[in-house]
Amino acid sequence: MSLTRVHNLSISLDGFATGEPQSLEAPFGHAGERLHGWMFGTRFWDAGGSAGVDDAFAQRHSQGIGAEIMGSHKFGPPGWHDDPEWRGWWGPNPPFHTPTYVLTHRPRPPLEMAGGTTFHFLDATPAEALAVAREAAGGQDVRIGGGATIVRDFVAAGLVDLMHLVQVPIVLGRGVRIWDGLEALEDGYDIEAVSAPSGVTHLTFTRRATA
Ligand SMILES: NC(=O)c1ccc[n+]([C@@H]2O[C@H](COP(=O)([O-])OP(=O)(O)OC[C@H]3O[C@@H](n4cnc5c(N)ncnc54)[C@H](OP(=O)(O)O)[C@@H]3O)[C@@H](O)[C@H]2O)c1
Repeated sequence: MSLTRVHNLSISLDGFATGEPQSLEAPFGHAGERLHGWMFGTRFWDAGGSAGVDDAFAQRHSQGIGAEIMGSHKFGPPGWHDDPEWRGWWGPNPPFHTPTYVLTHRPRPPLEMAGGTTFHFLDATPAEALAVAREAAGGQDVRIGGGATIVRDFVAAGLVDLMHLVQVPIVLGRGVRIWDGLEALEDGYDIEAVSAPSGVTHLTFTRRATA
């Protein structure tokens, strides 16, 4: 059975997955690079990085994934819809290497990139988007790549089987929060926490089997 998974979603202690305002110069707003400092030190990010706890979690991002779904604000800064040349933040060879579905109310034709990534633009409900991505994933799992809004919407719709969050010891105070509207989420998931020497806490939410 193909699973729906979230990986490496970094949040502040107060639950923000991004700061504000987002712009071309500041993709994470006032959070800057602080949410992902833990990842930059890993072998997953950089061949010279560490192979410790953070790396072990980070590597799972790419394992067994056949498609990604992301939100419009992960794909580009405000205004990208009006720029026909915008092809995402990641250069000619984005790090997805699978069909990648961008949810937007202003879809455009697909963009085929190097390395196996093709961006498809979809105006669809989470359940509809997941059905399309699952078909494309060819039996592998589907990753919900963020940002916060998309992850929240897929969790709220009951579509996420496994969620890996990384709680970073900073307080952002503003931005887009992951938790809003997800009251009692813990009732549906087994939750584990692992503290890493880097100071972050890896949280895994594994959906409980229904009787
Ligand atoms: N902390 C992390 O690990 C992490 C990971 C990934 C991204 N991020 C950051 O998170 C931020 C983006 O998150 P976000 O919460 O602002 O936005 P987001 O989840 O990326 O995208 C939300 C947008 O997607 C479109 N959308 C959502 N649901 C849709 C649906 N069902 N059908 C059609 N379109 C739909 C809408 O934009 P339209 O206007 O296009 O319709 C909506 O405003 C960025 O700053 C990114 O860098 C953080």
